[in-house]
This record gives sequence, C-alpha cells and structure tokens, in this order.
Amino acid sequence: MTLALSLSTLLPILIGVFLVLAAATVFLLGGSRRRSDTGRLSRETRQRDASADTGDTVETDAADSEAAGTNVEVAATARARADEARRAASGEIVTKPAGTVATYEPIDEEALGVTRRQFFNRSTLMLVGLATAAFGASLIGFLWPSSAGGFGGKIRVGSLDDILGQIEEKKAPVYNPEARTFLNPYPADALPAAEKVYDPALLPGMEAGLVALWQKCPHLGCRVPWCETSQWFECPCHGSKYNRVGEKKGGPAPRGMDRFPIEVTGSDVTVNTGIVIQGPPIGTDTTEQGQEGPSCV
Ligand code: FES
Repeated sequence: MTLALSLSTLLPILIGVFLVLAAATVFLLGGSRRRSDTGRLSRETRQRDASADTGDTVETDAADSEAAGTNVEVAATARARADEARRAASGEIVTKPAGTVATYEPIDEEALGVTRRQFFNRSTLMLVGLATAAFGASLIGFLWPSSAGGFGGKIRVGSLDDILGQIEEKKAPVYNPEARTFLNPYPADALPAAEKVYDPALLPGMEAGLVALWQKCPHLGCRVPWCETSQWFECPCHGSKYNRVGEKKGGPAPRGMDRFPIEVTGSDVTVNTGIVIQGPPIGTDTTEQGQEGPSCV
C-alpha cells in the first residue's frame, strides 16, 4: 500500500546525479589525458619527424634528398634545443664544453610545453566543466527532498487539541498548505475496522484521532476541495467523491485519497510528507459516514 514517493522522487534525482558525475568524469579524464601530453611533441611535429626520418622524400631527386637531409638536421637540432631548454626549465644544471659561446636560440614551444592554443582549449574545457558541475550541484540541491522541513519532509502542523478544536468549530478539515494536507478527525469506534484495512504506519495517527489526507486526487491529480454541505471531499475535475476520512464514495478515482503518517509527540502533531500511503481500495467504508447535504459538484 505504501506509495514509493521517496523512490519516485529520488529516481530522477539519482539519474541527474549520475549524469553530472559522468560528465565531470569525462572532463577530468580528458583533462588528465591531455595533461600527460604536456612537454611532448605535437602529432604534426611527430609526423614531420617521422616523414623526415624514414626519408620518404629522399627517393625523388637530388634536390629533394638535400632538402630532406636538411630537414632531418633541423629537426634533430630543434629536438636537442628543446631537450636542453626543458632540462634548464626543470632546474637541471646544463653544462657546456669550455669555450662554448652561448647564443640565443628561439625555443620550439610545441616541443617545450603548453602552447597558447592548448592553454585556451584547456581553460575553456575547465570552465565548461566547472559551470556544468555548479549547475548540477544547484539542480540537485533544488530537487533533493528535504528531511528538515517543507513538503517531502516532516512538517509540524500544530497541537492536537487546537487542530481538533478548529475542526469541531468550523465543521471543516484543517488545511495545512505546507504539507498540502487536509487534517480530519478519525472516530475511535472505527479503529477496529481501520486496523484491517490501513497500513500500520497510519494507525498511530488514527489512534490519536487524526488522518492527514493528501490534497491530490488519486484520479488525475486535481486538488480536491472540501464540500461544506455534503461534508465530503468532492473533486471538481471529474466528480470523484470521498468521505471525511478520504474513503472513495463515487466517481472515476481508482481508490480513496492518499495520505501521510502522523506522529504525535506530547501534544505536537507532525505529518511525514516524505511517505505517501495509497488510499484504501474502492468499497472501503470504515466510518460509514453518509452524504450530509447537497453535493458541491
Ligand atoms: S482528477 Fe479528481 S476525479 Fe479526476
């Protein structure tokens, strides 16, 4: 009988968490893979070197051979300079033969480390990843059911005596908008019948003399208002009717009104909106309350 509200609420959240974590993992793995490439020759450079090393161009004519040889020499010199610059950058002491004159040699940025393009690409990916993670975190925070208060958690709705007094005075249920709940009295003499029908989680509240009915019609979800004349709940959408304790009396609804467990501590009444118990089956009539006046719909 227990409607898995927590499960149905948590399922899309868990899917969202999974998607955010998957996206974050992809970004992090992509970033770490690219980080491991730092300091290596780019693919284009390696292809040029490989092409020069295998002497593909040597086979053509003498001019090509000379150009290829020059390319190999230039590539080797560039690699040596890059290696030397990398060692110097890492703090390694680079020694040269005595009498060697140091000359300025431009550094091959591709061979040395992160190029400007790589820097911007990684910065962009990192910003996108951070924005996605921040959006995911805020989305989860917004959707996560609260256990401290608000609909989806436990909500204190007042003192038992006050609630029962108001119901008696106005001949109408007490409505709590935060819990989206109608509170109505449950007669003590109907408890033996209730024990055979209702979920045990509902019985403490019924024994204290209260039921907490979810305002949502179990047919198609309209809000079900209270009808003062009939002293029933009557749905304006398709005409389903329920007695004072939410047991179905007519219309297309598939069952009675869904409801929440109630905890009574001292005189404090708390409705646990994190657990929805499905309404009783069609035909349930534990209180035998008939229609007390004209219908509202
Ligand atoms: S939504 Fe209430 S009867 Fe259809």
